[in-house]
Amino acid sequence: MQFKQQALLRQKLFVLASLAVGSLLYLVVRVGSLDRIQPVCPLEGRIGPRIPEQIPLRTLHFKRGLLHELRKGNATKEQIRLHNLVQQLPQAIIIGARKGGTRALLEMLNLHPAVVKASQEIHFFDNDQNYAKGIEWYRGKMPFSYPHQITIEKSPAYFITEEVPERIFKMNSSIKLLIIVREPTTRAISDYTQVLEGKERKNKTYYKFEKLAIDSNTYEVNTKYKAVRTSIYTKHLERWLKYFPIEQFHIVDGDQLIINPLPELQLVERFLKLPPKISQYNLYFNATRGFYCLRFNIVFNKCLAGSKGRTHPEVDPSVVTKLRKFFHPFNQKFYQITGRTFNWP
Ligand SMILES: *[C@@H]1O[C@H](CO)[C@@H](O)[C@H](O)[C@H]1NC(C)=O
Ligand SMILES: *[C@@H]1O[C@H](CO)[C@@H](O)[C@H](O)[C@H]1NC(C)=O
Ligand SMILES: *[C@@H]1O[C@H](CO)[C@@H](O)[C@H](O)[C@H]1NC(C)=O
Ligand SMILES: *[C@@H]1O[C@H](CO)[C@@H](O)[C@H](O)[C@H]1NC(C)=O
Repeated sequence: MQFKQQALLRQKLFVLASLAVGSLLYLVVRVGSLDRIQPVCPLEGRIGPRIPEQIPLRTLHFKRGLLHELRKGNATKEQIRLHNLVQQLPQAIIIGARKGGTRALLEMLNLHPAVVKASQEIHFFDNDQNYAKGIEWYRGKMPFSYPHQITIEKSPAYFITEEVPERIFKMNSSIKLLIIVREPTTRAISDYTQVLEGKERKNKTYYKFEKLAIDSNTYEVNTKYKAVRTSIYTKHLERWLKYFPIEQFHIVDGDQLIINPLPELQLVERFLKLPPKISQYNLYFNATRGFYCLRFNIVFNKCLAGSKGRTHPEVDPSVVTKLRKFFHPFNQKFYQITGRTFNWP
């Protein structure tokens, strides 16, 4: 009898202990996520004009989750109406540069609860056939969002295509433009590497980088080679400045975005007048990849596609030196115009 009671007591104690441990675990997890939810008040001063003050950020987080669910579940017209979803023209565009880190930038900005990304490159402004389809076609390519969110798209070809600045200006003359750049010679080699991989996949032979980048008659840098031309950032930017004032551009350091993304992202948040919501919590370094992965919340994370960060071919050091010397004056001009200085050689 007494033995039975003791067993019963032990059982009760066990249940109580389990409850205690469970609550503790819950609290630990909860504190972890509470950490993310910053005080709803006071919002004044931290909130940009795009987010009405009466919408607490927590709601934004919740709505963001809902949006994701709707997208996954192929939202019906009824759901779209019910939740007030809209397809908005982008309020900001990542216009380039190719191989500067445009995909990483877009994916990282998408961590922000008030940002919605267009998943694909739309090529509306640089492709005449797409452009001829009109602005409503473009809007139809945009993701659904809540009215207080902002939509961002990226198409790196915009930066170097002649007609694009005027076309974007006609859509919205006060749009915000993001340009992400890397050290010009590294970017050119990265550009070459991507084309080379495409050729190799199709079993085509391809010239060596040195042969393309250096004119075989003059031994000078071949400015007709596209990978070289794209890296002359100042030339392209000057074309854009015929339409937009420099205040509408923000330059992102693509080399820093790889090594230490948060400070770069915080500068973009400020430029877009968004409350600072992206934190170290959202970015964790994956040593296997040698690259940051994105953490949206406790259950959902995402690493960027494997093709990013491929190894470059060995390039003749004298060619690298020649290119760096060639880019140097253009870089100085670029720093001067943008007010952002980089440690490029
Ligand atoms: C989503 O909706 C589109 C358009 O109504 C339809 O073509 C497509 O098959 C749907 N996809 C799924 C997975 O239900
Ligand atoms: C144009 O872009 C600015 C800056 O993002 C935005 O505030 C404004 O609402 C946009 N105008 C239109 C008509 O989309
Ligand atoms: C490429 O060439 C290799 C070796 O010659 C061959 O085995 C392979 O099937 C080819 N691939 C394609 C896509 O043609
Ligand atoms: C880190 O990267 C490796 C290799 O791509 C991947 O298999 C693994 O799931 C990643 N780990 C995390 C925690 O994201």
